[in-house]
Amino acid sequence: MGKVTAAITGVNGYVPDYVLSNEELAKIVDTTDEWITTRTGIKERRIQKEGASSDMAVEAVNGLLAKMNLDPMEIDLVIVGTVTPDHPFPSTSNIICDKVGMKNAWGFDLIAACSGFIYALSTGAQFIETGKYKKVLVIGVDKMSSIIDYEDRTTCIIFGDGCGVVLLEPNEEGLGVQDFILRADGSGREFLIQPAGGSANPPTIETVENRLHYVKQEGKSVFKFAVTNMAEVSAEIMEKNNLTSDDVDWLVPHQANLRIIDATANRMGLPAEKVMINIEKYGNTTAGTLPLCLWDYEKQLKKGDTLILSAFGGGFTWGAVYLKWAYNA
Ligand code: UT7
Repeated sequence: MGKVTAAITGVNGYVPDYVLSNEELAKIVDTTDEWITTRTGIKERRIQKEGASSDMAVEAVNGLLAKMNLDPMEIDLVIVGTVTPDHPFPSTSNIICDKVGMKNAWGFDLIAACSGFIYALSTGAQFIETGKYKKVLVIGVDKMSSIIDYEDRTTCIIFGDGCGVVLLEPNEEGLGVQDFILRADGSGREFLIQPAGGSANPPTIETVENRLHYVKQEGKSVFKFAVTNMAEVSAEIMEKNNLTSDDVDWLVPHQANLRIIDATANRMGLPAEKVMINIEKYGNTTAGTLPLCLWDYEKQLKKGDTLILSAFGGGFTWGAVYLKWAYNA
């Protein structure tokens, strides 16, 4: 028997219907479509008007199970990357399992902001590689509109709501997750943070009045760290695995800013046609961006394709995953 690797065998996504365009944002805050487009690449984002993160995930998971003809009872483990859980506790994973009827599964939420999906994917892969589980769902979901200040033009233009999910299963052909590099530097925490609502600043009238339950970001500082670290870690995983730019079929980058994506692709020596981009229609959905890219590009992926997933986010957290795609859509 060959070595067991963890392969993505299915992907699905869900984005809410409501489209918040740059033009509509320009009526709410002092900004323009031109500024947002040239500085970020974003044209519109989706907003979930009702319901919680779990409700988007339920749509995505039910769609995946139907697409793959799977019974919810077959799922062993559900890992949810999110910074917008339904509640501080119980976990959103618990809630999704209940709503979908995955009664044989257990799971947990994992907080790594925009790196949530690569952290969760790498974690989920371990449970497959050890032989412990056969079917693991890895979900990236965020309802960013629930923590975004629509009076702050430096953040509200960037973020949107959405969810993506992948199924991990054992593979003995050497496909699936090959390697990952994950990094964290908590000294960067002040640059991108939701200051209140946790044990450091429990909710009070003052925290609400001071708008401390919303995302605060020092955009320029985060930008500098993101450009450097996302590009570096993506190049590092290529070098570590002796991959040239010709060997890489797809870069799947976190969708935070088109300029960060371009810098990463340049550092890896990849032409634009090898880079997955959907930032123009969804903005930054935090843990949702990478599985939403895989969902959008699924039909173009071929069995054996080499993918590098890479992300940078609040924490700071960042990293890259090298995987071989396991199926033709
Ligand atoms: O996903 C997690 C990680 N997050 C990121 O990777 C985000 C990283 N940061 C960024 O993407 C960028 O820093 C932003 C898109 C947030 C901002 O772009 P920037 O090119 O860094 O702009 P800036 O903050 O340097 O601001 C430039 C100017 C300022 O005006 P002055 O001081 O030059 O007069 C801002 O006040 O643009 C102004 N500005 C805006 N103008 C119109 C800031 N936001 C806006 C806006 N519309 N929405």
